[in-house]
Amino acid sequence: MAGGDPRDRKPDTRLVAAGRKPEWTGPAVNPPVWRASTYLYEESAAQEAGRHVNADGVFHYGARGGPTQWALADALTELEPGAAGTMLYPTGLAAPAIALLSVLKAGDEVLVSDNSYDPTRSFALHALRDYGIGARFFDPLDVEGFAATIGERTKAVLLENPGSLTMEVCDVPALAAIARDKGAVTLIDNTWASPLGFPALERGCDIAIMSLTKHVGGHSDLMMGSAAAGEALYGKLRGKAQAMGHVVSPDDAALALRGLRTLAVRLNHETSSCLEIAKFLLQRAEIAHILCPMLPGSPGHELWARDFTGGCGLFSFVFQGGTAAARDAVIDALSLFGIGYSWGGFESLVTPLDPAPARSATPWPPAGTDPADRFGLRLSIGLEDPGDLIADLERGLAAWSRA
Ligand SMILES: Cc1ncc(COP(=O)(O)O)c(C=O)c1O
Repeated sequence: MAGGDPRDRKPDTRLVAAGRKPEWTGPAVNPPVWRASTYLYEESAAQEAGRHVNADGVFHYGARGGPTQWALADALTELEPGAAGTMLYPTGLAAPAIALLSVLKAGDEVLVSDNSYDPTRSFALHALRDYGIGARFFDPLDVEGFAATIGERTKAVLLENPGSLTMEVCDVPALAAIARDKGAVTLIDNTWASPLGFPALERGCDIAIMSLTKHVGGHSDLMMGSAAAGEALYGKLRGKAQAMGHVVSPDDAALALRGLRTLAVRLNHETSSCLEIAKFLLQRAEIAHILCPMLPGSPGHELWARDFTGGCGLFSFVFQGGTAAARDAVIDALSLFGIGYSWGGFESLVTPLDPAPARSATPWPPAGTDPADRFGLRLSIGLEDPGDLIADLERGLAAWSRA
């Protein structure tokens, strides 16, 4: 029921109203871009008092943000059930990086799911080492073996669900419960579904991370990340981000807010196009596996149906045999799919699926599949007409050869 508490409203309604506090928007619909490094106090006593209240909504200094950034953080908190606050970071990579530094100290260790975004893996393995923090990788699909993987030093577990290249869906509630039992904090990269499709904190995670560069921005013109958590961990996130001098620009925050308003509409469109395109690919003889958890019969579909309320247009597929050159010929024959990094924008993108170098705990191709089936593509489906995208893929596949 759409009562007085915004959290009682349906997500679509919350997306429209979230973060639009009158004291931040003034008479405008959207919070204006408040560009400021310095906020002026009326008297010295107010300046002194301001030093001691560290909260969004309290003017202090540009490094603690202003109404535009507060409005975005507030909106994201409203959309994440169980969150007390959200920190913003200059990129989606900075979000897990600084969040890990917020909860770990020298001597600790993080367990990272083997299907994680490669730069996040790299940060955990290499950058954290300089701080005396260890990292190991684990198979996110092996719930039985997970408890035994957690060691004395393990204080954090980092999940990505689904894996943004290979699309495995893991049993997040089970893994997070085991981690909690053993005293470890669970962080999750929830960029794929966003809280609209996967309420990560409600599913047992402690810190929900997103690259806002993707769906929230939605227009391929900004970089940003976020991490949302309950009261105690939000305090830690805030403390570390401020200590390291992180703040996002109000211009980018305004762009992210603009994107956020249409998030549900875009995700719905992407999801329906994605399913249409995945079903088309399923019929094609060139293709061995479709990695799209929303598609019945695809790996991870049961867990997706159990735990998710939505999805997006990002999925992958694997060719039957073939070579890297054959795969590249398909990419080059496409005209509607841009060749580029990132995903979640309004325009469709294609990128080679080449996960083997970025795995250490699980093999690629996966155990039990034909080792010849290793080359594939990842598609980010945008807002074009799905029929046009299918026609483009038909042209692309005509360039494929098994040799
Ligand atoms: C799953 C996932 N998380 C995080 C990131 C990093 O986001 P950003 O590019 O904003 O640093 C990416 C980027 O591709 C990603 O795919």
